Amino acid sequence: MLDVVIRGATLVTAEGMQRADLGIQGGRVAAVAASLPEARRVIEADGLWLMPGGVDSHCHIEEPSPDGTVMEESFESASRSALAGGTTSVVCFVPQWKGGGVLERFADQRRRAERAMVDVAFHQIITDPTPEVLEREIPELVRQGVRSLKVFLTYDPLVLDDAGYLQVLAAARRNGCLVTVHCENFHAINHRIAALKAAGIVAPHAHALARPAIVEREATHRAIALAEMMDQPIQVFHVSCAEAAEEIARAQARGVRVWGETCPQYLALTASDMAREGFEGAKFMCSPAPRDEAEHGRVWAMIRRGVLDVVSSDHCGFSFDGPHGKRANGADAPFDQVPNGIPGIAARLPLLFSEGVAAGRIAPEEFVRLVSANPAKVMGLWPRKGSLHIGADADCVLWDPKAERVLSNAAMQHAIDYTPYEGRAVTGWPVMVLRRGEVVMEGDVVTAQPGSGEYLPRGPYALAQGRGVLEPWLS
Ligand code: URP
Ligand code: ZN
Ligand code: ZN
Repeated sequence: MLDVVIRGATLVTAEGMQRADLGIQGGRVAAVAASLPEARRVIEADGLWLMPGGVDSHCHIEEPSPDGTVMEESFESASRSALAGGTTSVVCFVPQWKGGGVLERFADQRRRAERAMVDVAFHQIITDPTPEVLEREIPELVRQGVRSLKVFLTYDPLVLDDAGYLQVLAAARRNGCLVTVHCENFHAINHRIAALKAAGIVAPHAHALARPAIVEREATHRAIALAEMMDQPIQVFHVSCAEAAEEIARAQARGVRVWGETCPQYLALTASDMAREGFEGAKFMCSPAPRDEAEHGRVWAMIRRGVLDVVSSDHCGFSFDGPHGKRANGADAPFDQVPNGIPGIAARLPLLFSEGVAAGRIAPEEFVRLVSANPAKVMGLWPRKGSLHIGADADCVLWDPKAERVLSNAAMQHAIDYTPYEGRAVTGWPVMVLRRGEVVMEGDVVTAQPGSGEYLPRGPYALAQGRGVLEPWLS
């Protein structure tokens, strides 16, 4: 007898839609058929859609800083928020601090993630590509299941110059890792920040003025060109605008192995949100900066073309009033002293469904590709995650495509004291979530136990491998 049968739903996967029952055994998908027999537990799901659990491949959770402070969103609270919004797996970050290594940091993040209730994989941030890190630590990290290296082309003290970026690309190629890249031009931003401050323009809305699309476009072009030269696949993170996406499209047309991710904030927020009364604008400060409404349409067009094929949250655990939050440097701190990043792990699926499927911009299957199947593929987690294939982990979301909800901070169930989407009406909402066959959320109540999430070690995968076109003396 099957452990669980979900009966009467419409299955929506990357491959299409069908009316079918789904059977679960031992935490995995065991059967998909027009009609399945009785099971230990039968979940009646008439009128609902059954989709693979969301895979959020870009989440900042419980990241520590060198001064000993830690982001206030813990693995436990972020998991609750993820499950409340239909996400069952996350890929989050291990820091590296200049002058230090990565293995100790990785062990530390693994320990923190032991409290998770979703399944967790890691990107390793590289800020200091020393010979020790490149030659000894990265191969060991790969043995321990990390398959993506994250680099920042901006932000002091995380920034890598071109020389450092090239070293990371080479190390990734040698070790079969993907490189994920934050693309904005460091010096151009600093030049603009200095000019804005000299002119006395320091309120949160200046964040968008300091980081216009051109700084993103330039860094995207450079990141791709150097990756192409090194025959190393990359994913460009959080693409906010069409002019950066165009760089990706042109490279993809040349056969370069580059993928583009965007986030709901670039489809739902605008620079004018940062101009809200008083310091309220800080609640919308993330990098790259949200653009304008016309840009939303252009980003949607890039999604529909397949240039941007992943929508992740870039969830960032900073409160407005918390000790390390938006106002940590004062209630009217200059814009360059405000932490960048916004929470969004729970809002990701509802916002994208509402703006995408309910608004008629994308088909339901495309929604599943963007939030689940494609992130799993790009991160080497597919088909275990992001699919409902026989043998896949039974991570499932029962989704009410007609539910009308209004987003609120309470509904996000995170540890953060605000949501940038407060008061926004959405159509479509998760009513039940199963993680590896266990019901972990029902009717907005998360029932998973802290520590029930699993670490997702990743092995070699084709998407992270180059085309084999590198000069032999360069490898
Ligand atoms: O503003 C953002 N996106 N903060 C999070 C760190 C990053 O850049 O991804
Ligand atoms: Zn970034
Ligand atoms: Zn990020």
